[in-house]
Amino acid sequence: MKELVYLDHAATSWPKPPEVVQAMMDALQHAGANAGRGNHSMAIGTGRMLIRARAALAELFAVANAQDIAFTHNTTMSLNMAIQGTLREGDHVISTMTEHNSVRRPLEYLRRTKGIEVDYLKVDAEGQLDLRELEQTFKSNTRMVICSHSSNLLGSILPIGEIGDIAKRHRAVFLVDAAQSAGSVDIDVKQMNIDLLAFPGHKGLLGPQGTGGLYISPDLDLEPLMHGGTGSQSEYSEQPNVRPDKYEAGTQNTVGIAGLLAGVQKVKSLGTEYIWSHEWGLIQTLMEGMGSIPGIRFLGPSIGSPRTGLLSFVIEGEESAQIAHRLDREYGIAVRAGMHCTPLAHKSAGTIESGAVRASVGVDTTEQDVGMMLHAMRELYGKR
Ligand code: ALA
Repeated sequence: MKELVYLDHAATSWPKPPEVVQAMMDALQHAGANAGRGNHSMAIGTGRMLIRARAALAELFAVANAQDIAFTHNTTMSLNMAIQGTLREGDHVISTMTEHNSVRRPLEYLRRTKGIEVDYLKVDAEGQLDLRELEQTFKSNTRMVICSHSSNLLGSILPIGEIGDIAKRHRAVFLVDAAQSAGSVDIDVKQMNIDLLAFPGHKGLLGPQGTGGLYISPDLDLEPLMHGGTGSQSEYSEQPNVRPDKYEAGTQNTVGIAGLLAGVQKVKSLGTEYIWSHEWGLIQTLMEGMGSIPGIRFLGPSIGSPRTGLLSFVIEGEESAQIAHRLDREYGIAVRAGMHCTPLAHKSAGTIESGAVRASVGVDTTEQDVGMMLHAMRELYGKR
């Protein structure tokens, strides 16, 4: 059995750091009580861990009050909470063609059921928006601007600070999908005028699946998506109007959050700047090495330009799914092929019919891993 070369970190980071695995085992074995649901010592201990995890995330994203971060099960849940909790009948939304289905589908659902209006701004070949077009798209009923910080297909990084300024000037709520940037690109919710930040725990933050979060500006009164037990104000039939309880109905994934805390601590010890440049460097090596493959086309930012740690490509005359299949079966290399849940981005890249192959790296990816990918690609497609 060949050793796996894992180049699918954009889907989820793997393997998780040993500290994350250990923290989860400790939580299961020694701190498995239900936080906020009892006054015994173990429940209080689990509650303290949640406080530490919330504080660590708040520090990472420059959130002034950690209570403004709600834990969720993934970015999709965070985005649904943000979108469905904000939009009302008659609202207009500006979004982009790089959005994931976890933005597009809730928006299209609200278009069908509540008659909201949506404009998806086009992006250029580098994955960038025309900010003048953004300015011109605002209407009197524009309620939200929604952007993925970094496209999960193109790897492009949007100028979130500038977009946040524009949204603020137009008094629109600014929602950022940080699925591909949290942990590898600096995010400061205050400086960037971000009102809502949806992030995963299981990608760049190195935690397990089933973890994520949503930062909600204290100026917003978001309608909760879920109503239920919070362990607080139980005598009332309404959801408590205190944070984070208002947005955290039901038992929390405390084992997962213990892992997430260890992951965030690892990210902090390495630093987002180091992580970004490590991943960027590996992608540049891939681009340089694969550039000579006949008929290859890279999607997103050109070589040398900023991007997050992923590279999508197509090869003329070759099926994307088949490329991924051969890498897996013949070389033990895991990449993702297909639509990547982002058909609009594929449409703008001209790959809606073919799909694309995406290789994505993480903190532990090595030059050797990238070398294996280059070797496999040259052997398979270098001499066609
Ligand atoms: N959104 C994740 C990806 O891009 C799952 O693969």
